[in-house]
Amino acid sequence: MDFLHQVAPVLTGTEAAALKEYLDSGGWLTEFRQTQLFETMLAEYVGVGHCTVVTSGTVALYCALLAAGVGPGDTVLVPNYTMIATPNAVAWTGATPALVDVEPDTLCLDLGAVAPDVKAAAMLYVPINGRCGDMDAVVRFCRERGMVLIEDACQALGSNWRGRRLGSFGQAGAYSFTPHKIITTGQGGAVATDDDAFAARLAKVKDFHRTAPATDEHDGLGFNFKFTDLQAVVGIEQLKDIAARVERKKAIYGWFREMLDPVAAVEMLPTNLEDTAPWFVDVLLPSARDRDALRGHLKARGIGSRPFYPPVNHQPMYAAAHGAGSLPVSEGLAVRGLWLPSSLDLTREQAGRVCLAIEEFFTGGGR
Ligand SMILES: Cc1ncc(COP(=O)(O)O)c(C=O)c1O
Repeated sequence: MDFLHQVAPVLTGTEAAALKEYLDSGGWLTEFRQTQLFETMLAEYVGVGHCTVVTSGTVALYCALLAAGVGPGDTVLVPNYTMIATPNAVAWTGATPALVDVEPDTLCLDLGAVAPDVKAAAMLYVPINGRCGDMDAVVRFCRERGMVLIEDACQALGSNWRGRRLGSFGQAGAYSFTPHKIITTGQGGAVATDDDAFAARLAKVKDFHRTAPATDEHDGLGFNFKFTDLQAVVGIEQLKDIAARVERKKAIYGWFREMLDPVAAVEMLPTNLEDTAPWFVDVLLPSARDRDALRGHLKARGIGSRPFYPPVNHQPMYAAAHGAGSLPVSEGLAVRGLWLPSSLDLTREQAGRVCLAIEEFFTGGGR
């Protein structure tokens, strides 16, 4: 039986022909017209004025923070449950990430857990796995405290809050296109914004801070975070398919929810599939021990799975500033979480095989 990966990229099937057409056209491979088209399509999809593509989601976060003027001496609020790129992007700017605990239902930053006396320049709000809290409250919270709101929407392209795209609520939103995302360009990321001046700053930051494209005059410190037309050609084909991909993610999550319903030991977070296109099928097990034993049980049956990210404050780089036990919700949940097979081409039969193996683990003495 084939090994069922936790996640693998899925091509639409049209990428090869599009790439051949592009290569035959004599394009210079680096970012140009195809990249511009990809950016325009993305901006239209997200419902913002500009999307600027860069080399990764991490770089998208970094560039967004720089364009927002975040730097040494600043504090940026970051949820304690997220991928390591979120606090790292803050640290690379020279600012300090201040970790905040998360809401148990959404795993997103809990506004109620922000220390009342904290003075932060910005908040990186992470709609993790396409879920979010009350985005009106998040926007209001940041506005009232004079914080720039940047969404780390790397797991949320295609998910909404009350019909509006996640990644479009703040000053900027960052997306990622790694192979396990809803659309992929191999690596890659994008920053969405409605602010013309912000977009102009981003364009400089990603291209050596040139005063104008293709000149060698520089009015600031910039880098080379440019995209390539090769990636854009692939991204365009995938983006054309995004509506079907969103529906597929929702269907996959729905199958697991239905088939795991009888397994009392497996908890699934409240998920409104009208708005949320879960990136991964995520489940909570009764304990970290169960989680790890279940992983082994699945692996022995040819089924891949992956544990949730450890809480950020358990990572050595951030442990000193935020001691173990200081952020109990995220610390309690992260160690019980497991991602199940979630590839876009997963079939209902394969989902059934996974659910059966999980049921067997809990009823057949696999623990
Ligand atoms: C929430 C979150 N932020 C940032 C990133 C980093 O994106 P990339 O791997 O494209 O740098 C990821 C990647 O999975 C992510 O899930």
